[in-house]
Amino acid sequence: MDLAVVVATGIWAMLPAYIPNNVAVLAGGGPPIDGGREFRGTRLLGDGKTWRGTAVGVAAGVVVGLLLNAVQDPVVATLGVPLPEFTLAAIVALSAGAMLGDIAASFLKRRSGRRRGSPFPVLDQLDFVVMALLLAAVADPAWFGAVFTVPVLVVVLLLTPALHVSTNAIAYWLGLKDEPW
Ligand code: CTP
Ligand code: MG
Repeated sequence: MDLAVVVATGIWAMLPAYIPNNVAVLAGGGPPIDGGREFRGTRLLGDGKTWRGTAVGVAAGVVVGLLLNAVQDPVVATLGVPLPEFTLAAIVALSAGAMLGDIAASFLKRRSGRRRGSPFPVLDQLDFVVMALLLAAVADPAWFGAVFTVPVLVVVLLLTPALHVSTNAIAYWLGLKDEPW
């Protein structure tokens, strides 16, 4: 497999996981998941993790996965690149995993005394990818093994932090996000 195919496969296969966190930024608001509850004096998750942001984010990731399946044939024919079809289990696991990873990271941030919105380098950039990949591997091992070969995994782990940093910077400049990370 040449590098272009590996990169295209990685981005395509991760799209259902890339969408939810960005959509949550747009859709967020309303009651926080932790309902204001604290754990040892600090918020469990904080006001930045809301039911609405999470639900709309996961739904958007699922819709994108289904759309990718719908356009897979023409895209593969046009690009001549063997991009994978998603199973439903893979789509749901990638979308829900991305949100869950981000929520788990907020839990860790609060435990380590970081206020809402404060940066946590490396964790911020990789929380959602790692959890999305883990859930996808558990939900559909056969699909995961066929799509996420070692080269694809390496490209995804190297490329995602760069994509994450740039989309968040753009969202900040557009006034959609309070912090540039
Ligand atoms: N958001 C949400 N629900 C989620 C994730 C994000 O509603 N599950 C929305 C919130 O409005 C949040 C914004 O998206 O403020 C940005 O997300 P993020 O950077 O993950 O949250 P922070 O506010 O920075 O909080 P934290 O320090 O916990 O990451
Ligand atoms: Mg943040």
